[in-house]
Amino acid sequence: MSSDARQITVPQFTAMKQSGRKITMLTAYDYPTAGLLDSTGIEGILVGDSLSMVVQGHSSTLPVTLDEMIYHAEMVGRAVRHALVVVDMPFPSFHLGVHKAIENAGRILKQTQCQAVKIEGGMEQAEVIAALVTAGIPVMGHIGLRPQSIHQLGGYRVQSDQQQLLADAQAAEQAGAFSIVLECIPAEVAVRVTQSISIPTIGIGAGPGCDGQILVVNDLLGLTPGRVPRHVRAYADLKNTIAQAVTRYRDEVRQGTFPGKEQTFQ
Ligand code: KIV
Repeated sequence: MSSDARQITVPQFTAMKQSGRKITMLTAYDYPTAGLLDSTGIEGILVGDSLSMVVQGHSSTLPVTLDEMIYHAEMVGRAVRHALVVVDMPFPSFHLGVHKAIENAGRILKQTQCQAVKIEGGMEQAEVIAALVTAGIPVMGHIGLRPQSIHQLGGYRVQSDQQQLLADAQAAEQAGAFSIVLECIPAEVAVRVTQSISIPTIGIGAGPGCDGQILVVNDLLGLTPGRVPRHVRAYADLKNTIAQAVTRYRDEVRQGTFPGKEQTFQ
């Protein structure tokens, strides 16, 4: 993957803000999905720690481990030829001092063929961001709703403290972050944050004024069981498509019509 000259680099990704072209990102957690997403020409793929909930079935992003993130990032890294691939640093892999953070982020870059890491936090993580960047590890920040701090925040709620959000975004930029995710913040605050920094903002539940957008791929494809957050638009209904296909298969096996002549060797 990383030797492909057409792959988007971190500086190219950052420069997209100046060009005014919206940046499109999605999450991916495995080889076939990452390959399919990449073939559409989206600019970024995130191996999100949302895999804890979406793939592993946990009720928060806290349980997923660094080894598990690396396992999935290896699959994604093998598939992607074009998009910039960012890997979430899971809780608490960047809270154990800057040396440990460099060691953990270094493992991600060495083992996965992915190009950057994402860490949740702005101002309070500025020292860690700066240390990783000094070590040559590109960092995407993540402010607003930070699911790894769900117990402290008291729930998955919109975060609207404009002063704090501006300070977080500016601290992340000054520390060297190449881009920042804005999760679940009011649209007008997202516009102000976006205008106040020179690196791209990637919104999820942050309105249309960000430099780019990201969604959890399972939400976009209609694969998420139960209620999805308000900021999601499902572009397909794969849950029902899959259930219908499996039901047809089950019925045809029971009826003896699968396998048919075409699927049978003489
Ligand atoms: O883990 C994730 O999927 C994320 C996105 C929601 C930005 O952090």
